[in-house]
Amino acid sequence: MKIGILVGMENTFPPALIEKINSMGEGITAEYIKIGGVKMAEPTEYRLIFDRISHEIPFYRSFLKNAVLNGTIVVNNPFWWSADEKFFGYSLATKLGLAVPKTVLLPQKGYIKGVTDASLRNLEFPLDWDGIIEHVGLPAILKPHDGGGWRDVYKVNTKEELWQSYDQTGTLAMTLQEFIDFTDYVRCYCVGKKDVLVMPYDPKNRRYLPQESLSHYAPELMDRILRDTILINEALGYDLNTVEFAIKDGIPYAIDFTNPAPDADIWSVTEPYHNWVTETVAKMLVDYAKNGAPASRHHRWYKWLNQDATSDLAASAGELAQGIVASVEQVAQRASNVISEVIEEITEPIKPRRPRKTANEPKPGKTAKTAKTTKSTKKS
Ligand SMILES: Nc1ncnc2c1ncn2[C@@H]1O[C@H](COP(=O)(O)OP(=O)(O)O)[C@@H](O)[C@H]1O
Ligand SMILES: [Mg+2]
Repeated sequence: MKIGILVGMENTFPPALIEKINSMGEGITAEYIKIGGVKMAEPTEYRLIFDRISHEIPFYRSFLKNAVLNGTIVVNNPFWWSADEKFFGYSLATKLGLAVPKTVLLPQKGYIKGVTDASLRNLEFPLDWDGIIEHVGLPAILKPHDGGGWRDVYKVNTKEELWQSYDQTGTLAMTLQEFIDFTDYVRCYCVGKKDVLVMPYDPKNRRYLPQESLSHYAPELMDRILRDTILINEALGYDLNTVEFAIKDGIPYAIDFTNPAPDADIWSVTEPYHNWVTETVAKMLVDYAKNGAPASRHHRWYKWLNQDATSDLAASAGELAQGIVASVEQVAQRASNVISEVIEEITEPIKPRRPRKTANEPKPGKTAKTAKTTKSTKKS
């Protein structure tokens, strides 16, 4: 069984990962992939492909989607990676209860060739800059709705600075985000949506700090960082990601968690963190290769194509049937209540007067009678 590694220019993490997997004695071989022309609808020779670079090479992304269709497990999921971007993530995280700086998505400054005013009739112009600034506050961070590597990130202190920076953003869709004046910053690896390593980080000098820098963190803060990291990765479905939190007044604000190919280079993340991520990712990939990946059933086409299609369809049919039974029971119950009402109406003259019961307020001792009466009514 083989694991294929798809890489860009990084040269410490991938070789370390290959060496680790090959030394695990699990009967699984890891190697770099070689790809030429890709024939449609044909399987790859790999049980699993670990992708570090398809965000920069569209050919790889397309190859990976075809690989998934043909039964290869791909980490991270190329479909979701294609769909995901930061602004959606901020909204999702907010709905999940994470602390997220207030963020506004802005229409682009520029457009590709051929887009004219006529193409942009849905856009408000001019933008309500004052309202946007009032909502987000100043200073603020202007950054791409989808980006990475600290590219095109601006800190703006005034409306004029915001305009100046915005004017340089070309065709990028940008977000304006509340600036968190943080005292601490952490970057957390999350592997397999469950294993988390919290790495203290100094963004000003762009360097990772040793674990001791976490010693002053309150247990509640650490718990929240761990919980939020797992929750957002569960929701996004990434098997490898980093979540960055800016910490202010004991609250971890989720700043950046769209990093499906996070830096793992020994020279930037430092040796202990590099070793942890190499080991943890190697174990996860081997586990997925041997036992299957948890996310593989999310695609709609899966049930028509996969070997388990029959059991999946049966399961869906079972769920549907349960739903129908539940609905039928509800209808029967309502019918039964109505019939009891009618019977009570009919029998009322020969009974002592009393308030009419309602379906929602069954009284002790009446249920049995109602059921009995209904039964006999049905018979007749
Ligand atoms: N809302 C914010 N408040 C304070 N600092 C921020 C905020 N957003 C980004 N930053 C700073 O800018 C850096 C880059 O932004 P980030 O969202 O992480 O983009 P990238 O994907 O390029 O890493 C962060 O590491 C952080 O130091
Ligand atoms: Mg970042």
